[in-house]
Amino acid sequence: MNILTFNSEDKLNEAGAGLLASIVQKKPDAVLGLATGGTPVGIYEQLVKKYNDGFVSFKGASSFNLDEYVGIAPTHEQSYRYYMQQHLFNHIDIKPERTHVPNGMAEDLQAECLRYDEAIAEAGQLDIQLLGIGHNGHIGFNEPAEELSSGTHIVELAEKTRQANARYFATEEEVPRQAITMGIGSIMKAKMLLLVVKGEDKAEIVQRALQGPITTDCPASLLQTHPNLVVLLDEAAGSKLQ
Ligand code: PGA
Repeated sequence: MNILTFNSEDKLNEAGAGLLASIVQKKPDAVLGLATGGTPVGIYEQLVKKYNDGFVSFKGASSFNLDEYVGIAPTHEQSYRYYMQQHLFNHIDIKPERTHVPNGMAEDLQAECLRYDEAIAEAGQLDIQLLGIGHNGHIGFNEPAEELSSGTHIVELAEKTRQANARYFATEEEVPRQAITMGIGSIMKAKMLLLVVKGEDKAEIVQRALQGPITTDCPASLLQTHPNLVVLLDEAAGSKLQ
């Protein structure tokens, strides 16, 4: 595990974007596992800048996002498909048909999970998977539980997750109760994992995830077993590491 701590958000974002860009520079048909949420916004901003400056092209790359809310259309401002279009895809040359986000509006959600896993398998191994972490240790929407699923599946969102995400909706009631998420197995199969965490409110879970026992009660603790985990933290998020 390689933990890097930054004293400025700009430097952290630059490091994250630099790592993603370098993978695509070396392997133009790279398969990128992407994430949503507040944390990666600045990384995507820097990545778009690198594209605009001519340092990297995504025309041969493909992407798979971690998750999507159930029951929210891609045109809904809080859907993760919408987020990805706004923050990244609309501004770079990635082929739209090579960007994958689970379809939360699928009539048959189980079939959608299978379809998503097949698409990942067909693309081959993810070259990198970008990850944030929830306050409860979730990665993607793999919430703490007695058992974790390997493949893409439907999850009931934890109350803590719904409360954290309520900031994006008019009321907490509007936050979806279910999501489709890539499973822990698919995440762990990526060649490299890039976990990015910002803020004091995440310091405790960062400590538990990276230095605590490996337990399904804190899904991010499984990342400790990955052979190629890079962690980017701001000083606040890293403040409880021993
Ligand atoms: P955040 O979400 O980046 O909005 O904090 C991270 C997560 O819940 O995985």
